[in-house]
Amino acid sequence: MTYLDHAASTPLLPEVAEAMLASMKAEFGNPSSVHGYGRRAKQVVEDAREKVAAAVGALPAEITFTGGGTEADNLALKGPFGLIPGRHVVVSAIEHRAVLDTVEWLERQGAKVSAVAVGPEGIVDPLKVAAAVNSSTVIVSVMAVNNEIGTVQPIEEIVAAVKAVNPSTLVHTDAVQALGNLPVDVKLWGVDLASFAAHKLGGPKGVGALFVRNGVRLTPLIHGGGHERGLRSGTSNVAGIAGFGVAAEIAAREVHAKSEALLALRAQLLDGIRRAVPDAGVNGDLTTRIPGNLNVSIPGTEGETLLMLLDQAGIACSSGSACASGALDPSHVLLAIGTDRALAVGSLRLSMGRATTPDDVASLLEVFPDIVGRARRAA
Ligand SMILES: Cc1ncc(COP(=O)(O)O)c(C=O)c1O
Repeated sequence: MTYLDHAASTPLLPEVAEAMLASMKAEFGNPSSVHGYGRRAKQVVEDAREKVAAAVGALPAEITFTGGGTEADNLALKGPFGLIPGRHVVVSAIEHRAVLDTVEWLERQGAKVSAVAVGPEGIVDPLKVAAAVNSSTVIVSVMAVNNEIGTVQPIEEIVAAVKAVNPSTLVHTDAVQALGNLPVDVKLWGVDLASFAAHKLGGPKGVGALFVRNGVRLTPLIHGGGHERGLRSGTSNVAGIAGFGVAAEIAAREVHAKSEALLALRAQLLDGIRRAVPDAGVNGDLTTRIPGNLNVSIPGTEGETLLMLLDQAGIACSSGSACASGALDPSHVLLAIGTDRALAVGSLRLSMGRATTPDDVASLLEVFPDIVGRARRAA
């Protein structure tokens, strides 16, 4: 099997699996217990908090562990309401559903939502974001890296532009696709809140974190025993958190070397695709994107057919469309950046990671011309 779907999830790193197993076997105590078992489990959680904090440029006290990226996004967006005057939210049109569906829910509760349009390059314009901000804007949320087209957003500039209009507006970034793919420094970005998910960087699923800048107040989503400084009640997922810590440490250490390797692989991939399918088009700006992502439109095809044929050939990737109730539903991201509907339906996301090799790329390229031909005949 050739795995080219690292943006969906990444294989667990061996070092992570080892740390998780060790923690499950030895540190089974409840981290809230005062006895030695509890203290050891708590130490595991606090060591991981330090590692995650160091990987993203935060203080350990600014890291709240959550049950994944979706929960971190929900906490970031719902948490400030009622604590800061105003009821307006600004998002970009290319956010992940974890953000878009959350703000739709807030809208049903009475919030006002502005979605900032994004051009064909797939990069959010800080001036457009600032133009949407007003005196009632509680929070702005713009992702650091788009999960479909991999484009890197100018977060630092967005924060500066937003704060120039309303210094009390909070800025959140969904950085789930950034950690492991880019150097991350929340202090450099200047954000108030940032979401992360362990499974995108070789860690386990169901574990994430929200960076909450010192001084920012949030109402928790989950009430109970007051864990995570009252922000996320519930006994901590000690093994998952231990795995996240190790994954974050490795991600930060290896990000530069990994980027170089992936840039070379992507050039090989794109070159081969263009030779096989000269009318293939790249969705979004090619250079301002994480090295492991390539999102291409293959005219005259349906992504679902391509996916199925590739899967039969042992290659796993994603398409820019999903089959919702029997009809092909093109990706909201591709439509938002102005991709023609038919091209959006015929799009593929090929995402590479730490384990991807030139042989993986060659395996895809070997079967690609035949598969595109068959998909075109089937369309
Ligand atoms: C940009 C982005 N945000 C949020 C999420 C959700 O994270 P999780 O799967 O950990 O809930 C994902 C995962 O697909 C993502 O890519």
